[in-house]
Amino acid sequence: MSLQGKVALVTGGSRGIGRQIVLTLARAGAAVVINYQKNRDAAEAVLREVRELGAEGMLYQADVTQLPECEKMVKATLDQFGRIDILINNAGIRRDNILALMKVEDWEVVVDTNLKGVFNCCKAVIRPLLRQKSGGKIINIASIAGVAGNSGQANYAAAKAGVIAFTKTLAKELGKRGITVNAVAPGFIETDMTESLPQQLKDMVLPRIALERFGKPEDVAEAVLFLAEGAHYITGSVIMVDGGLSL
Ligand code: NAI
Repeated sequence: MSLQGKVALVTGGSRGIGRQIVLTLARAGAAVVINYQKNRDAAEAVLREVRELGAEGMLYQADVTQLPECEKMVKATLDQFGRIDILINNAGIRRDNILALMKVEDWEVVVDTNLKGVFNCCKAVIRPLLRQKSGGKIINIASIAGVAGNSGQANYAAAKAGVIAFTKTLAKELGKRGITVNAVAPGFIETDMTESLPQQLKDMVLPRIALERFGKPEDVAEAVLFLAEGAHYITGSVIMVDGGLSL
């Protein structure tokens, strides 16, 4: 159990990729804080699964767009577990449209959640991490859209590109303190986020994936575990988890 004694906070941990990251880290022995925004029942179900794996966990409801809520969440983590070692910024949304039709509100809510949310959680966690003087791992879930752009996702792609630049910058700032900061950029992963996409779009994407299948949350969680449990000389990197879609 490589993460025994470590404490990990996962934003948007009640479903999809976040849920799988929570379970994967718990299986590796970490105590896990499951952040959720609205769906307490789903979050409680994940917490039960964590406990069935023999790991410790707690729930915390917070909106990552609000810095004070993120700060309270980190304080609650420290109150419960006495430390924090790993932050996974996973919470994210999409509000797709071509730019001509994109509403300002759709730009704002996506940038606020996907980019400012990452800033808020990193900001909240940074002082406790530095005080502990025992290094740490920050892993941000970006997207292939943030690397290559994606038609209909100007807001989402710009926010995710921002996450990548933020990741590299923080890696430079925190390297000397033994804290690594990396991003994982998923391609097309089967979750609630992609379920509602038109079948026509899915039919177009599938033949472009070298591995000839859409990704699963487990595929992303595997990469996160790699970065969380070892990868001691990797920082400021972006790991593509896209089955070769970006090739
Ligand atoms: P999902 O829609 O199933 O889950 C997103 C989670 O984020 C939910 O638990 C939701 O409650 C939470 N969330 C949203 N706004 C929040 C807020 N303001 N505060 C706290 N939590 C909030 O989506 P999925 O697919 O699991 O996505 C997880 C991450 O992976 C996101 O950052 C997404 O952009 C990224 N991603 C997903 C891809 C995919 O194909 N599914 C591809 C590339 C990146």
